[in-house]
Amino acid sequence: MTELADRLHQLQTDALAELAAAADARAVGGLRASLFGRSGRLTTLLHDLADEDPTERPATGMLANAVRDALEAAITDRLAVLVEADAGARLADEAIDMSAPSRPWRVGHLHPTMTVERDLREIFHAFGFEVFEGPEIETDAMNFEALNIPPDHPSRDLWDTLYVSEADGDPRQPAADGTILRTHTSPVQIRAMRALTPPIRVITPGRCFRYEAVDASHGFEFFQVEGLVVDRDTSLADLKGMLEEFARTLYGEATRTRFRPGYYPFTEPSVAFDVSCLVCGGSGCAACGRSGWMTILGAGMVHPTVLRAGGIDPDEFQGYAFGMGLDRITLLRHGIPDLRLLMSADLRFLEQFPAGR
Ligand code: DAH
Repeated sequence: MTELADRLHQLQTDALAELAAAADARAVGGLRASLFGRSGRLTTLLHDLADEDPTERPATGMLANAVRDALEAAITDRLAVLVEADAGARLADEAIDMSAPSRPWRVGHLHPTMTVERDLREIFHAFGFEVFEGPEIETDAMNFEALNIPPDHPSRDLWDTLYVSEADGDPRQPAADGTILRTHTSPVQIRAMRALTPPIRVITPGRCFRYEAVDASHGFEFFQVEGLVVDRDTSLADLKGMLEEFARTLYGEATRTRFRPGYYPFTEPSVAFDVSCLVCGGSGCAACGRSGWMTILGAGMVHPTVLRAGGIDPDEFQGYAFGMGLDRITLLRHGIPDLRLLMSADLRFLEQFPAGR
């Protein structure tokens, strides 16, 4: 046996030992390069074949081919084993334990005020009203002037206004462009009259804002639902009948109701609508100021000036309107003592109303 043949045998032995020790596919790749690469250990020996004695060369050449084939086959086998072991480990790693208990799934729910709003949408839907919504940012012209409340009208004191573009950084001082946060949903009446043709029968739910000192019964933001009906021969009697039906649907058949004269610039005549106290049933308690009654909304026949602002001829059509706050309905429904809780975003509070009710 020639010296080159010896070196070939030795290389095969060494390489097979290294291969057995290779822990992963990367190590096998490295070994393969060190054997078969351009100046790899086997490549170098194959070059040396050229210097072999011509009588020995055929035998040593056959041996070299056999070593190369054996190493290639061994590498292929080893790789297959390693890849399979790797996949097995990864599968074991990613295995899903079907018997593990599931994590609790937190499901949100409606805010109790939004549940009241949905209830009102449902009731008025049954009365034939459709929903018409307007923007929370309004102009002074829509929020006041179109509703028969000119600048400097004393009734403006009823609606302390937050101005979007403030003059001198004071939210109570209007800037020249008259952009405000709406103080009530009444401007949506004007938008509805301009967008629709009579007969009109809409409710306009939405968020409103006022410059208020916040306490247990006042917030600077709150929710209203406004109603507007415009048709030929609409009368105060229609308004009364509809509101009585509404109160009994919302608060139960036993609810007693009464109308009192009221004042709003956008209605003539205007009324306040009371229901028998929802806490004491009418006998008198702290919640109703011992009167036995609670005022739940303002209403009236739409003022001709307001109809005209909405592009409707008051000689041809009449209308009635009403507006109510949702937050107080929510407080009374659940016996919640403080309006501020509704805006608190405190989950310990909100989670007490899982269905909103
Ligand atoms: N906009 C009034 C307020 O915020 C509520 C109101 C009263 C609305 C009478 C009406 C109405 O549509 O006719 O105090």
